Amino acid sequence: MQKFNYYSPTRIVFGAGIRNDIGTLIKEFGVKKVAVIVGGNSAKKSGLLDLVEDKLKSEGMDVLLLGGVVPNPLLSKAKEMTKEALKFGAEFVLAVGGGSVIDTAKFVAIGVANPDTDIEEFFFQRKKVEKSTPIGTVLTIAAAGSETSDSAVLTDDVTGTHIKKGITTDYNRCRFAIMDPELTYTLPKYQIGAGVADIFMHTAERYFTNILGNHLTDEMAEGLFRDIIKFGVKAVKNPTDYEAMSEVMWCGSVSHIGLTGLGAKGDTPRDGDWSCHQLGMAISALFDSTHGATLSAVWASWANYVKDENISRFARFARKVYGVVETDDKKAADMGIERTVEFFKSVGMPVSLHELLNREVSEKDCEELAINCSYNKSRSIGSFKSLDYNDMYNIYM
Ligand code: NZQ
Ligand code: ZN
Repeated sequence: MQKFNYYSPTRIVFGAGIRNDIGTLIKEFGVKKVAVIVGGNSAKKSGLLDLVEDKLKSEGMDVLLLGGVVPNPLLSKAKEMTKEALKFGAEFVLAVGGGSVIDTAKFVAIGVANPDTDIEEFFFQRKKVEKSTPIGTVLTIAAAGSETSDSAVLTDDVTGTHIKKGITTDYNRCRFAIMDPELTYTLPKYQIGAGVADIFMHTAERYFTNILGNHLTDEMAEGLFRDIIKFGVKAVKNPTDYEAMSEVMWCGSVSHIGLTGLGAKGDTPRDGDWSCHQLGMAISALFDSTHGATLSAVWASWANYVKDENISRFARFARKVYGVVETDDKKAADMGIERTVEFFKSVGMPVSLHELLNREVSEKDCEELAINCSYNKSRSIGSFKSLDYNDMYNIYM
């Protein structure tokens, strides 16, 4: 193992029925006013929201309910909620939902702790985050890993850039995550599949690196790949299979908690490539597509475009994850890519842009996507292979 600096302060409470502990968990923070952030109707419909409100109120807390976060959450909504939470005097921000709700809650928490600064300043990284309000999560979907990650992702619908991007800071770390797999039983199969693809990709983005020699990191990633493939397929088939849903849920957190990205080369940490995420976020920004589906849609195109940078890495992936026995690296690499495409299909995810959008993809579409992803030709992405505007265009095409 090479050097790393690992920090993960989130208390994870996991298991069937653990949702009932929400009151006692928040009580430990000695707060009275809790802003509860939610999405659409799913948490209300399942009875979770009423349960959370009851538990907090019975511990003597005041609750401000802030709803309406949409998938691919918006900066404008986070700003609006921040104003409300400030008026209320929130001392704690509780996210009840998935990545979109948690990410919005993270911005609200930053906004509440910095009442004199517009959260846009933090979103556009003109100001560094130096404080935040404590955040906790009751997770309802295994996917984004935001419950354990240090990032928060929003789409700018305020200034006209239409860019979807994240900010990364340890102030985005949840103090706790309640992970009750039973809460995910009500998910539509498409959302489960998209979550499974996202979890696979949080592992893949860190695995395809040129920083090698961190064996435990690799083995953990390969174990995670095998687990999410096995149980992801089962979960999509039967969303009330506790064993499958609980494995997927834990995979989701571990995939984005940083463990599969540890080990540096000199001063460069193995923090991942993240090209598919950047390519996918541009798709979500322009077409409002589901995050996980954008990743499966671009992965094979990306993999075939970059594999020759380090074909033996792709060959190892095929052998360790899928048990491919082919000894020729090039052939093994192609088999691993093909098996991954089959896996994405088996969880109901698209494997091309054409499939994702359900229509022909034009040169103009790909130009617009590459312009959005390259921030108007001002940046490159990726570290396994650095990709500029032209590369992005070719991968989308
Ligand atoms: O809004 P409601 O009604 O709650 O419905 C949601 C939403 O429509 C529904 N849902 C959630 N739990 C449910 C449920 N429906 C029925 N039963 C349940 N138990 O699922 C839909 C999707 O929710 P969302 O929160 O958008 O899902 P996900 O967790 O996949 O989050 C995606 C967002 O996270 C970002 C993505 O870019 C995307 O915006 N990411 C955040 C990351 C981070 N902060 O570390 C990393 C990821 O790579 C990702 O970028
Ligand atoms: Zn993701």
